[in-house]
Amino acid sequence: MALPDPALVVLVGPSGSGKSTWAAVHHRDAEIVSSDALRGVVGSGPHDLEASDEAFALLETIVAARVGRGLSTVVDTLGTDAERRLRWLATARAAGLPAVAVVLDTPDATCRTRNAARDVPVPAPVLAAQLRRHAEHVARLADEGWDLVHTVTDDAPGPDPQPAPTRTPADERRTSQGLKVVLQLSRFPWGADPLAWVADVARAADAAGFSGLALMDHLIQIPQVDRAWSPIPEPWVTLGAVAGLGTGLELGTLVTPITFRPPGVTAKAAATLDALTGGRSFLGVGAGWWDREHAAFGLPFPQPRERLDALAAGIETMRALWASGTKAYAGARVSLPETTCYPRPTSDIPVIVGGTGARTLRIAATLGDAANVPSAQPALGEHIATLRRHSETVRITVLDLPTVGTDRDDAWARVERLRGRTAAAAYAARTHAGTGVQQRDRYGALADAGVDTVFVALADLESADDLERLAPVLV
Ligand code: CTP
Ligand code: MG
Repeated sequence: MALPDPALVVLVGPSGSGKSTWAAVHHRDAEIVSSDALRGVVGSGPHDLEASDEAFALLETIVAARVGRGLSTVVDTLGTDAERRLRWLATARAAGLPAVAVVLDTPDATCRTRNAARDVPVPAPVLAAQLRRHAEHVARLADEGWDLVHTVTDDAPGPDPQPAPTRTPADERRTSQGLKVVLQLSRFPWGADPLAWVADVARAADAAGFSGLALMDHLIQIPQVDRAWSPIPEPWVTLGAVAGLGTGLELGTLVTPITFRPPGVTAKAAATLDALTGGRSFLGVGAGWWDREHAAFGLPFPQPRERLDALAAGIETMRALWASGTKAYAGARVSLPETTCYPRPTSDIPVIVGGTGARTLRIAATLGDAANVPSAQPALGEHIATLRRHSETVRITVLDLPTVGTDRDDAWARVERLRGRTAAAAYAARTHAGTGVQQRDRYGALADAGVDTVFVALADLESADDLERLAPVLV
């Protein structure tokens, strides 16, 4: 079951039908606004009917506040007051949140049995009246304008399945969705033993079934990831250390700015890595974008047009040096008096061009083997369409930056920790906050859209243990 999220969810069902139980299974405590619980706040307990008016006044305030912020809200009442229902629906509409009615269609006998077993049962005639009118309430929902009326018949769904990953050789490492999933490392909280940290993470990624490991290539840690004084190691050196671990991972950068090193030198590094790994290197490359790191390291940072010229010429240079033989090269953009580059790469090193500008996409499609673009729809669909206009065969890869929790509560706690000054709902939406199983469902949609490889980075990766949260996407 995939209900929209975030959303306003209004529960509808008689006493004992399992509304509160359903809410507790599918939502965080903070997302659930319950009239019973609020009677306990302003009255003597959940059954204090004299506190109903104040409890409902509070409920309205809380629903309006949460929904107004775009936060998921589950209204746990009987759900039979049509006037209230329509008010909540209007609040959701005004906030642009999907509005869902969840109907608990539990057999009458089950409701009666459960009610009777409670410490404080609802009086039998009251429950009988609720049961009699249930069908009538449900019928009205159809015309009220809900985005979705979801009926729960089996109201005891188990926890999300988290099947164990199976290990396969790197060249066969595709998930059941047909995707390659590559771990991208952008931060390195490695403490006192950098090599041990990198080795732990790489070995864990290998064991978990990632097809590869990609390192970000920056000279100063970028503000999107961490503070400027956080370590951001030179990637080719670091990949050399990983190559020494004997994993089956494909290794490369995502992405190397063409402005950092003369392209022939990058070709040399990638060819060496390819030789050291028996043909498992790849090269992510882009035009570079951050002026500050160039200035700090004494590197020129020309205008975009020149950088894109350099990107196209750089790819041509690298391919010329990787080709067999030592003969002179004269191409469209580059001429070289000889192409003597040994060790020769063991494989055809895939060139993955990162970036979303019109010309970058054209370069990716015409000179690259693959393009790398952000995973977020709807822009992704537009980029894929553009790439396909230039090339039928260029592979589509995406960079995905999800917030992944072990469960909903954990995902939300991570959003709170990571969001900085961004509103929680916006951060959660932008990073697709959810469980690993939810990420897997999203990856299925990416595969359907034509994506070949997902590069996934966790903003809160501290150690190898954190990779367990991604296990579901690797099945
Ligand atoms: N219950 C159960 N199995 C389920 C769902 C509910 O055994 N699949 C039990 C709950 O443990 C609880 C009782 O049935 O003791 C009523 O469930 P609850 O979710 O509290 O029902 P509500 O619809 O919330 O009832 P009310 O309107 O009275 O709050
Ligand atoms: Mg309840």
